[in-house]
Amino acid sequence: MNLVVIGAGYVGLTSALVYAKLGHRVACVDIDSTRIARLDLGQAPFYEPGLPELLREMQEAGRIVFTTELNQVASDADLFLLAVGTPSDSAGRADLSYLFSAADGIGAVLDHEAIIIVKSTVPVGTNAKVLARVREAMKKAGRGDLAGLVRVASVPEFLREGRAIADFLRPDRLVIGADDDVVYALVERLHEGIPGPRVLLSLESAELAKYAANAFLATKISFINEIAQIAERTGADVREVAKAIGLDPRIGPAFLQAGIGYGGSCFPKDVSALHQLSGENGYAFKLLSAVIETNNHQRELFFGKIESALGSLKGRRIAVWGLAFKGGTDDVRASAAIDIVQRLYGRGADVIVYDALAMENAKRVLPDAIEFAPSAVDATIGAEALIVLTDWVEFRDVSFETVRTSMLEPKIFDGRNLLADLDLGTRGFMYVGVGIGNPKS
Ligand code: UDX
Ligand code: UDX
Repeated sequence: MNLVVIGAGYVGLTSALVYAKLGHRVACVDIDSTRIARLDLGQAPFYEPGLPELLREMQEAGRIVFTTELNQVASDADLFLLAVGTPSDSAGRADLSYLFSAADGIGAVLDHEAIIIVKSTVPVGTNAKVLARVREAMKKAGRGDLAGLVRVASVPEFLREGRAIADFLRPDRLVIGADDDVVYALVERLHEGIPGPRVLLSLESAELAKYAANAFLATKISFINEIAQIAERTGADVREVAKAIGLDPRIGPAFLQAGIGYGGSCFPKDVSALHQLSGENGYAFKLLSAVIETNNHQRELFFGKIESALGSLKGRRIAVWGLAFKGGTDDVRASAAIDIVQRLYGRGADVIVYDALAMENAKRVLPDAIEFAPSAVDATIGAEALIVLTDWVEFRDVSFETVRTSMLEPKIFDGRNLLADLDLGTRGFMYVGVGIGNPKS
């Protein structure tokens, strides 16, 4: 089938390449001409394992093109996939302006039967609005008589950054929201070759399912982070508690890793959008209010532990490992690590940071005075404390003997419990984790 993907971001570009891999002919459109120019040269605009290889393979196969000009690729498209950003607005609502401008752009040029697939995470009822916008734009373009040929489907993505291609090729399920069987059948055809159960829903249920999935996962994280607070105050170990409850299949082991709270371009945005959507529809989502409050509070509690252990941070040299919102990605959007680095800087600390992939993106959002180290060990030279904020597994392979001699004070505050099983408390460090009892010095 011929597919136009609008939005060449983490979701849109991954989707475009995987659909091309499945044998479809794909045109990927983005308003960011620099991004399109780089893609044309085979350069991926962000880190995602396997993406550069898939990009080159699909370009060599001639199955994908990149452009900023929708009108040049719309004429023979069977489907249009919307994957433009839906960021939070100041009130925490999903900003749909990009989505609607993309819908207007399609309607202005569309002159044949087509399906609009909304992949971006959107509030319940948005798919219907997108369809109305496309039909309205077709009328304005003098093709109102064809407006009935356009239909819409909600196919929310459940991709995790750092494993987006794997998640796309082998999803736990394929959710398809639509309101007629012809649309289900066409969207099924688009996904031939993708295994897993198909869940055919109404548009509204598919839209809500996406928010419910992310909100539930965020709830698990806030839950275990509160358990961590109790563990810390009672001498228990949250990792042991997580293991014990995770063996119950009704709970499951995943997303029970205590830390500094969730971040990223999805959870914070989607949880607050669902909370807003609920309120706007007359229901106060009490559980979600607590999930959000707990998440914000978790990083404050962690920061408070650093301050109470070190005293005034003014002029103190603090090393930080990790800037990305989680290990395995270069993405710093809504990263708790960035937030904590900004707090350290705000207290007058002399901060030096290292991250395996995210330093370029971090430089765009951190103050100029923040120092960037060429390696994890280099960051610790002369430091009075080391703070671990992103779960990069490579931090575990560092020589801690070297780290201990290079630090001024061998104190480690581990916001991810990443190093908790390395017994650093018995190797000359004061080690402080999250929810694992009192600091072992
Ligand atoms: C985005 C949303 O954040 C997410 O909720 C949704 O599920 C999928 O789309 P992501 O791919 O991470 O996820 O967004 P981002 O990396 O910001 O990419 C969005 C792309 O759309 C950018 O490249 C931007 O240039 C492009 N865009 C934005 C357009 O092409 N047209 C627009 O009008 C606005
Ligand atoms: C998430 C969802 O997992 C995915 O299904 C959806 O499509 C997009 O949002 P992503 O944002 O890439 O994916 O990251 P994820 O791996 O879910 O982690 C989200 C945040 O939670 C990260 O900050 C991570 O560090 C944190 N996290 C995750 C925890 O703090 N504890 C955990 O146990 C798991």
